[in-house]
Amino acid sequence: MEKIGKNGKPLRHMMTPLDFSSEELERLFDLASDIKEHPDTYKDACNRMKLATCFYEPSTRTRLSFETAMLNLGGQIIGFSDANSSSASKGESVSDTIRVISCFADICAMRHPKEGAPMVAAAHSRIPVINAGDGGHQHPTQTLTDMMTIRALKGSLNGYTIGLCGDLKFGRTVHSLVNAMLRYPDNKYVFISPEELRIPSYLKEKLTDMNIDFKEVERLEDSLPELDLLYMTRVQRERFFNEEDYVRLKDFYVLNKAKMELAPKDMLVLHPLPRVNEISVEVDDDPRAVYFDQVQYGVYVRMALILTLLGLDGGAHA
Ligand code: NCD
Repeated sequence: MEKIGKNGKPLRHMMTPLDFSSEELERLFDLASDIKEHPDTYKDACNRMKLATCFYEPSTRTRLSFETAMLNLGGQIIGFSDANSSSASKGESVSDTIRVISCFADICAMRHPKEGAPMVAAAHSRIPVINAGDGGHQHPTQTLTDMMTIRALKGSLNGYTIGLCGDLKFGRTVHSLVNAMLRYPDNKYVFISPEELRIPSYLKEKLTDMNIDFKEVERLEDSLPELDLLYMTRVQRERFFNEEDYVRLKDFYVLNKAKMELAPKDMLVLHPLPRVNEISVEVDDDPRAVYFDQVQYGVYVRMALILTLLGLDGGAHA
């Protein structure tokens, strides 16, 4: 049975990008593009509404991006940016916290180190909950950001050879992006990682079941000439069991100017950020490097998502 939210409208959450149908995603990206072109139209769309950012794990860009998105819509923000400054440090459960937050705010973005925690929150919430990253699992709004960037700069989401490079084992942005892009079956994947950081087998099984072309390789240089998109990631230090392994693997890949010469002239380089050493700063001036553009697209797409989940996407951009 459809749940009704505190605002009297059907209650929807975003736990994974697949919670939206392809048509709904298209509408969301169209709305985000419209916001980009006509930001003033939306400046009061969330007047007197509050976004709660409940971040149990450190984040700078995702939290600030959500907060900027809500402020750009004329709304307000409340929240906490680490578990120690919330009642979680006193032992409060996520389900109790969200019941309390539901009384204060109209929508919530939650990041948690445990896989599935935002889903538990959603089950007990009276307001829309957005998963802002749960452990090594999913990061849907980063995926929407990545997809919007690709769509805006390449024209569509189909027909590419996509290289994903770095920590494919622990990187939730990789898992989330591959999962979402499976809906666009004309893409091929090249998973570039050291043996220890390979993409999880559940994703490979999905690709195999869907007859989607993919390969796993170790050397970035060999793959570069065939790629349309290169998604670089950092090695996820906080998810390693021991520091020794991290130190051994952290600089396995460094994309630099010399390597960029091997890549096609129209290949895009994406990165969810934060960057550590995996992209040399000398690449930043290359027009193919679009990771800072991604940050800007991320704000538009989060604005569109907030409006959509609050049921405010109908009239505002018509
Ligand atoms: C990513 C994350 O938190 O998973 N960062 C982000 O939200 N932009 C990537 C990362 O931390 O490496």
